[in-house]
Amino acid sequence: MNFEHKTTKILLITVIILLGLFILFMTFYFSKTKTLIVPENPLFLNENLSAEARIENLLSYMTLEEKVGQMALVEKNSLKDDQDILKYGLGGILSGAGSKADINTADGWKMMIDNYQSIANESRLKIPLLYGVDAVHGHGHVPGATIFPHAIGLGATGDAKLVERIAEATAEELTATGVNWNYAPNLDLPSDIRWGRTYEAFSDDSELVSEMSSAYVRGFQNSNNTKVLATLKHFVGLGDMVWNTSKNKNFKIDQGVTKANDDLLRSVYLPPFKASIDAGAMSLMVGLNDWGNSNSVITSKYLLTDVLKKELNFKGFIVSDWYGIYENRSNKFLAMVEAVNAGTDMVMLPFNYKKFTRDMVWANRLGLISDERIDDAVRRILRAKFFIGLFDESKNLKKSTNILGSAEYRNLAREAVASSLVLLKNVNNILPIKNSVKNIYVAGSAASNTGRQSGAWTVEWQGIDGDLPVNADSILKGIQEQAGEDTVVSYDENAKFENLKKAEIGIAIVGESPYAEGWGDKEYPIIDPSDLETISRLQKSSEKIIVIIVSGRPLLISKEIDSWNAVVAAWLPGSEGLGVADVLFGDKQFKGKLPVPWPRTSEQLPISSTGKTSNNTEVLFPRYFGL
Ligand code: BGC
Repeated sequence: MNFEHKTTKILLITVIILLGLFILFMTFYFSKTKTLIVPENPLFLNENLSAEARIENLLSYMTLEEKVGQMALVEKNSLKDDQDILKYGLGGILSGAGSKADINTADGWKMMIDNYQSIANESRLKIPLLYGVDAVHGHGHVPGATIFPHAIGLGATGDAKLVERIAEATAEELTATGVNWNYAPNLDLPSDIRWGRTYEAFSDDSELVSEMSSAYVRGFQNSNNTKVLATLKHFVGLGDMVWNTSKNKNFKIDQGVTKANDDLLRSVYLPPFKASIDAGAMSLMVGLNDWGNSNSVITSKYLLTDVLKKELNFKGFIVSDWYGIYENRSNKFLAMVEAVNAGTDMVMLPFNYKKFTRDMVWANRLGLISDERIDDAVRRILRAKFFIGLFDESKNLKKSTNILGSAEYRNLAREAVASSLVLLKNVNNILPIKNSVKNIYVAGSAASNTGRQSGAWTVEWQGIDGDLPVNADSILKGIQEQAGEDTVVSYDENAKFENLKKAEIGIAIVGESPYAEGWGDKEYPIIDPSDLETISRLQKSSEKIIVIIVSGRPLLISKEIDSWNAVVAAWLPGSEGLGVADVLFGDKQFKGKLPVPWPRTSEQLPISSTGKTSNNTEVLFPRYFGL
């Protein structure tokens, strides 16, 4: 055989093989494409059947593309065309932090979400959308909504019943605007207050977090008035990352590495998840942290499938966080395959949802993600949708948008603020302030700053340092209203009262400017030097001073505290500054207890779940301290 003959033969064989593969692929492809019919009176719409029977019936109609669409959760601002909801059969849309309706009013939100739902309703199977937001302390995006204290303040109340009522009120405000999914509660356990998300957590005590988070889930999902899907976040070990391990170059600890420790996993990190799953939670978000040095949690089949789905018997669905499945991965296709095979059911897509749906179909065709895995994911998503009654007209709870910021909810928030205050020091019982006090000076950066007192996740992701464009009352306003008629309250942010007569009491309301996520990682969380100067000036012009700390975490105050007469930790109270004054003037009692230990120095960090500091020294105030 000559050389030319041999080449022709090889070419021929190659063509035959390729043709064979093509025929095989096409057969496979068409065998998977179902004939699309619009089912008439399908069983899945029958409210009398069990959810599981309805899910199986709906699943039996779905094509691969429709299933993959359900697994996609698209950020509203990346939605290229509203009709893509229909074209790709999307499972959910979210407003990421700060992503608001074009008309940012309660009615504007309702209109926007109704429009998205009506597009989903044009699809063959009319599967309703999940619409998710981070209402982590009330429906924070919407001007006029009630802004409750951030979770750390709720942890300080230790009052699970109160937390359940807050969750219910938030759910009602969400329902009124069409939102049916909330990315809360937060089950993180911050062992290092340098972390910029400390305030999003209830406590570093796994037991208290279990109590609070399960109450939150009940308030959201199990009340007769509302059914909004709660999300347990962030799975797992978030809050216990090691300082300086963040994979994000802008951060220090957020998105860092949690030591892969199976003992801690079972004894500390998992119990809040277990309690909240038992309370009925149907969705759960995976954190952006790594589990040990080699693996992000989102790619851990051990954590997501073996531990969460099998061991804890979680029947709801797992959603990834933001760009989580793709973060730091050069091969996005393989990153997706890995995350979905590990157990991720719904993928949050802040950017390119078309690529995701395309890639998922290919991954399945190539046998990299099985039919069973996709069916399992979709079953879980549908289970949650049936659970909150999305398919059932009779469960469609209509609420007027007028309930946002109603007197009832604002009073509830005010009550929560009062219960969250922790009295750390009170020399000679200067607090509560007596009626006999006739002259009070008020100063400090957080006295008249409703944005600062609300913190981040309020209107904007990073919050607003200044007055909020919402119904909110400052702490100063509360003091002015509550002080007796014969008491003169003077205010100057910088405490420039030099030419005035000395006040009997000076109240310094100082605090952190708002921050969210890794942008709040801070090596030395201290009171801002300009606020410290204000305090010094106030000390010169007042006989005694009360320092109120408005912050998302304990601040390092051991050098200054000795010269202060009274100190109150007020956390991030939200829109109801009046609740602070209720306690300062004795209408209500101090009840709060520290939900996390208050360190003396940064060398003490991190502090273990049993309260042991890193350098074995005593903290300034232990967890659960409160006078
Ligand atoms: C946060 C999540 C949040 C998500 C959606 C992420 O950056 O880590 O807690 O739910 O964004 O806004």
